[in-house]
Amino acid sequence: MIDEIDRIAADATTRAEAAATLEDWRALDVELNGKKSTLGGFKRRLGELDPDERRTVGAALNRAQEQVRAALAARRAELDAAARHAQLAAERLDLTELRPPHQAGHLHLVTQTMERLEDVFVGMGFTVAEGPEVEDDWHNFTALNLPAHHPARDMQDTFFVELGELGDVVMRTHTSPVQIRVMETEPPPIYSVMPGRVYRQETADATHLAVFHQIEGLVVDRGITFAHLAGTIDTFTKAYFGEGFSSRLRPSYFPFTEPSAEFDIQRPDGSWLELGGCGMVNPNVLRNCGLDPEEWSGFAFGFGLDRLAGMRHGVPDLREIMSVDIRFLAQF
Ligand code: DAH
Repeated sequence: MIDEIDRIAADATTRAEAAATLEDWRALDVELNGKKSTLGGFKRRLGELDPDERRTVGAALNRAQEQVRAALAARRAELDAAARHAQLAAERLDLTELRPPHQAGHLHLVTQTMERLEDVFVGMGFTVAEGPEVEDDWHNFTALNLPAHHPARDMQDTFFVELGELGDVVMRTHTSPVQIRVMETEPPPIYSVMPGRVYRQETADATHLAVFHQIEGLVVDRGITFAHLAGTIDTFTKAYFGEGFSSRLRPSYFPFTEPSAEFDIQRPDGSWLELGGCGMVNPNVLRNCGLDPEEWSGFAFGFGLDRLAGMRHGVPDLREIMSVDIRFLAQF
C-alpha cells in the first residue's frame, strides 16, 4: 500500500511540475489536492486498517500529500512569475518613441523665456547659477544690506516658513540672494546670471502673481564702473528684443546697490516698458561676502520674467500664464 502511495505521489508531482498554464494548474490542484483525489481516497480507507498499519500508512500518506502540495505550490509560483513578466512586457512604454509633431508636448512659455534669456547672457560670456527657493534671512535680506527692521523689507511681502526662530527662514522674495551665494563661494571675477522662481505674499491680479520668476545678473571684477552696467543692459536689450530696441536708466533706490537705477526698454514704436532694477553692488554687500571693496567693484540687475513672457506673446492677464488649460498652453 505504501509503495502504491509513493508511486501515486511521484506521478502527481511530475504532473504538477508539467502544468503548462494557470488553467491546467487549477484543474490539477482540484484533482491532486482536493477531497476526491486518489490520495484523499486512501485517507478514507485508513479506518479499515489495524492501528499499527494505520500509523505507518497514515504517515506515508501525509508525506505524499505534502510532497504533492509542495510541487503544486512551486509550479504555481513559476506560473505567476511568468504571467507577471508577460504583463510587464505587454504594458511596456517606449519612451524614446517619436510622436507626430501635433501630439508632442513642449516647454512652458516661462521656461522658453528663461532659456532664451540664459542663451543671450551665455552668448555675452555669463555663466548660469542657481540657489534654493527656501532661503535664510541672511541671504534674502541681511547680507543684501537689509538688516532687521530696515524699512525697505516692507517692499517685499514675505512668506515665512515655520522653521527655526520666527522669521529665520523665508520663501525667497527675489533672486538677489543667489548673488550672495555666488560671492560667498566663488572668487571674482564673477560674470553670472541667476534665473529662478520667487515668492511674494500678494493677491494675484492681472499684473502680479504670488509665485513668479526673475533673472538676476551679477558682475564683480576689478575696475567695473557704471558705464559697464549701462553698456551691458543695452547690449542685452538689443540681443534679446532686437536691434530696434534701446534702454535707459532712471535713478532709483535699492539697499543692495549704490547708486541704484531702474531700467526701461524703448520699443521701436517709441513706447517704454519698465523692466527691472540695477546698480553698482553696495560696498556693504561686498564686505558681507568677504570681498574688499577697495579691490573689487561690480554691478547687479534683476527683473521679472513672467510679465516679459506675457508681453511678448500678448497675454494681457498674468494669471493666465499659470493656467493649466491645454488650449492656452498649446499656443506657445
Ligand atoms: N531684487 C530686486 C527686486 O526683486 C530687483 C533688483 C534690483 C535686483 C536691483 C538687483 C538690483 O540685482 O541691482 O525688486
